[in-house]
Amino acid sequence: MKRKVTKAVFPVAGMGTRFLPATKSIPKEIMTLVDRPLIQYAIDEARAAGIKEFIFVTSRGKSALEDYFDDAPELENSLRKSGKTALLEMLKQTNMDSGAIAYVRQNRPQGLGHAVWCARRLVGNEPFAVILTDDVIAAEKPCLQQMMEAHAETGGNVVATMEVSPERASSYGVLDVAEDMGSMVRAKGMVEKPPMGTAPSNLAVIGRYILTPNIMTNLNRLKVGAGGEIQLTDAIAEEITAGNPVYGYRFRGQRFDCGSKAGFLQATVAFGLARDDLRNEFSQYLTETVALQKAAQ
Ligand code: G1P
Repeated sequence: MKRKVTKAVFPVAGMGTRFLPATKSIPKEIMTLVDRPLIQYAIDEARAAGIKEFIFVTSRGKSALEDYFDDAPELENSLRKSGKTALLEMLKQTNMDSGAIAYVRQNRPQGLGHAVWCARRLVGNEPFAVILTDDVIAAEKPCLQQMMEAHAETGGNVVATMEVSPERASSYGVLDVAEDMGSMVRAKGMVEKPPMGTAPSNLAVIGRYILTPNIMTNLNRLKVGAGGEIQLTDAIAEEITAGNPVYGYRFRGQRFDCGSKAGFLQATVAFGLARDDLRNEFSQYLTETVALQKAAQ
């Protein structure tokens, strides 16, 4: 019988240098799309997919993340006293049950594979999910849930994938496709950040993974790959070499690269426009602003 996936790893140790000076004193995962920090989107998606144990791989300077998931008794009391029940309810949903969330530290940045490997003892001998909080995915059915459903059929390793233009492929892990079945592809290889013009396809890996415990075994070798870092992509590619299945799943939804400033701004616009309480005012502002810009050109 296939084991249910109930653990997810969130590598959140990155320094967020692309968002300095903001990230001088706040973790980039606390940066906010409309009124919710990036990490909240990731947690909600994991919960919707049935994840019960949340493993954070953190580093120095990330304590704001730990506080964010804790109860906030003074704040809750004051909201209760002033009868702000809707806000209180919303706040409660951000609290994590005692023991549901665990933190391990990555002492030095050595790559995504290394960050995931830091969680090996907490993951144990079970399949597990990995969510990269920089990749925010707007979807009717949350992306990881879509992947869980696909994984229930196939087992093995499943990575989220989407088409990118050939010029962008060198910024991603890229799949070498053995068989294309529509929403799923079976991979015969995987390359991290292929040099320009060498990508085996235009299918890029996006930051959602469902992985077998073998991946941790592969990471134990701490093999250094692209950019001098220990790459998760390499540990997954080793499974293909060993004859174990790796699938790419073409998710339904829109992905925003919130690790880049342009992507973060685009996500802010999209999530702002998706909000009933903001849509009218915000879209009017955007329309007027664009018109003014055009007129000025
Ligand atoms: C990481 C992975 C890469 C993947 C990407 C998705 O790269 O190493 O394989 O395609 O996330 O966002 P990073 O963006 O951390 O350089």
